Amino acid sequence: MSDFAALWAEIAAVGRASSGGYLRYALTPPELTLREWFRGQADRRGMTVTEDGNGNLFAWCDEPWAPGTVLTGSHFDSVPHGGGYDGPLGIVSAFLALDRIGSGRKIAVGAFVEEEGGRFGVPCLGSRLLTGAIDPARAAGLRDRDGVTFGAALGATPAGPDSRLANLSAFVELHIEQGRALETPVGVGSAIWPHGRWRMEFAGAGDHAGTTRMTDRRDPMLTFADTVLAANEEARLIGAHATVGRVEAEPNATNAIPSMVRGWLDARAADTATLDRLLEAVIKRATERAGRDGTELSVVAESVTDEVAFDTGLARRLSELLGDAPILPTGAGHDAGVLSAHLPTAMLFVRNPTGVSHAPAEGATDADCEAGVEALARVLESLT
Ligand code: GLV
Ligand code: MN
Ligand code: MN
Ligand code: MN
Repeated sequence: MSDFAALWAEIAAVGRASSGGYLRYALTPPELTLREWFRGQADRRGMTVTEDGNGNLFAWCDEPWAPGTVLTGSHFDSVPHGGGYDGPLGIVSAFLALDRIGSGRKIAVGAFVEEEGGRFGVPCLGSRLLTGAIDPARAAGLRDRDGVTFGAALGATPAGPDSRLANLSAFVELHIEQGRALETPVGVGSAIWPHGRWRMEFAGAGDHAGTTRMTDRRDPMLTFADTVLAANEEARLIGAHATVGRVEAEPNATNAIPSMVRGWLDARAADTATLDRLLEAVIKRATERAGRDGTELSVVAESVTDEVAFDTGLARRLSELLGDAPILPTGAGHDAGVLSAHLPTAMLFVRNPTGVSHAPAEGATDADCEAGVEALARVLESLT
């Protein structure tokens, strides 16, 4: 068994559901198990573990926050029934890369909390807190689907930004590729599409399914359904991505017209102007439809992430170092995107043969994962 396969096997069953996907929500038992595993890996390598008061964990080869430290790592949390590679691959690979180059360097491994926003709704919550991109009081009040706040799950109000971030000389996140764009084992990231999440609430009039005449209804499900179709149509026309993957209806009864439908629009595009155009078009069409249905629409931006261009010089250098590895953008969000506003940041992608992500079919071959570890080792070696 390869080094990668052996270490991967230690976590492969944690949080795995019968769907074959993972339920590794931030600060719930499976993710806490992975954090314990992280501490064990750090101990095994003589590293010092610190927690930053925001839920992010760091394992340091040298003094914590020593100037010139290169940080690598990713996240443990998953989307509901997501794949096992999105996140953990970057952490497992980080420890294995250290095994190849030795831990006598200023390198740290990080595990960021709530990268997916799968529990509390805002993605990259840990890196946003660490960099000051979100107000700690707002973060503390974010609620999961059971009403538990992030503050309660963390056991404290998050600490917020840490000025010692300036001591890090670079951040490198290795990640599974999440589409079909990478044809070699390893690639280098160039950019992240601007993207965001908008909560759309459609309010109507709850009533009896059998006795309310069709002409008397104010049914928000109709406005919602039409808006989902409009989002898809507009995204295709404009050349962007729009998804509504989460919906709630109230009271959610088969024999009642809903009083409220809540849907989350995930929208992404290659540039900000296109993303803005998409959003404008979707809201315009939703508003028109709401007028016809007698429903009311409100839209709240839960998180918006600007376009990220990774350090071009660094990306080129790493590509060369890795034998002219392809340089490619991604439509997926990452803590690396948030950190890139504060320090030189790079991403390495590992080929994903199915091209599927955020679903159980996500995966990579052991050989490609080994190649990823080797690439990360070379990169860390060259940066320290
Ligand atoms: C995270 O993976 C995201 O981009 O949704
Ligand atoms: Mn993800
Ligand atoms: Mn990820
Ligand atoms: Mn992500």
